[in-house]
Amino acid sequence: MYRIIEASWLAPEVKRFRLEAPEIARKQRAGQFVIIRVHEQGERIPLTIAASDERTITLIVQGLGKTTRLLNQLEAGDAVRDVVGPLGKPSDIHYYGTVAVIGGGVGTAIAYPTARAFKFAGNRVVAILGARTRDLLILEAEMREFCDEVHVTTDDGSYGVKGLVTDSLQAVIASDNRPGLVLAIGPIPMMRAVAETTRPHGIKTVVSLNPIMVDGTGMCGGCRVQVAGRSQFACVDGPEFDAHAVDFKILAARNAMYREAEQRSLAEFNAQRLDPHHCRLTEAHPGSPPP
Ligand code: NAD
Ligand code: FES
Repeated sequence: MYRIIEASWLAPEVKRFRLEAPEIARKQRAGQFVIIRVHEQGERIPLTIAASDERTITLIVQGLGKTTRLLNQLEAGDAVRDVVGPLGKPSDIHYYGTVAVIGGGVGTAIAYPTARAFKFAGNRVVAILGARTRDLLILEAEMREFCDEVHVTTDDGSYGVKGLVTDSLQAVIASDNRPGLVLAIGPIPMMRAVAETTRPHGIKTVVSLNPIMVDGTGMCGGCRVQVAGRSQFACVDGPEFDAHAVDFKILAARNAMYREAEQRSLAEFNAQRLDPHHCRLTEAHPGSPPP
């Protein structure tokens, strides 16, 4: 069992957890992830490690489906069953002069450790953070601590510049500090749009992919993605890939394959939550005696 040391909400449905996992914390490098199971019968979900210290790792979880919502019910003092990692290749950190790091929604949590690593490597780091609305923007203050510039966009104009991250990216590309590398992490349509924005400028662009994962070791094939016409496994060959070589159409179709089952499972979970006799801890650890 892995104990939760701290849990706090960053935005509606987005929660930050600090978990005691010293062996993973000591080995972890920017860009790597863990696969967790909340309880013995739970599904495995990949989560990027947002930060670590000597003993703990930080995970930021967006409650989208049943498992992430179940996880987001846990509090400091609770525990999760399994945490496996660190998995995946660390981010490829080099000096490019200026690096533009784009975080779309909760993708900012994944971009954060890699943006810091680029800064430590001597780069000028320009962050572009996008959210649908002000309340959904996360980690702005943390990014401002080390980035040379931070641009914020909101779709509804409630904060920062009204528009999408690609609007700010166009302005950054046209500026005197044209980036040598763009890193984009967020929803698939955003990563695809960023790739199409940088392609005509010939700017190297990297995306972090989060397809469905099961084992995280390259054995099950669940996380297969097409890159430069070849099958790659995001869990062992990625999660970061050349954005100009990724087939986003196949990626989007594969991620949607289980949508119906996911929605059914979420509906059952929500119905249980409305049950007046429902217990949060028994649900997170089925089979345990009720407290
Ligand atoms: P979101 O839908 O709120 O989008 C965040 C921002 O991305 C928007 O504000 C906008 O600036 C930009 N964006 C979105 N679509 C765009 C487009 N077509 N063109 C240009 N910019 C666009 O993001 P969210 O709700 O935080 O995440 C939604 C999905 O993203 C989830 O399904 C989640 O699983 C996935 N996700 C993937 C990763 C990853 O590792 N690649 C990380 C986080 C989230
Ligand atoms: Fe099974 Fe990647 S998760 S091959």
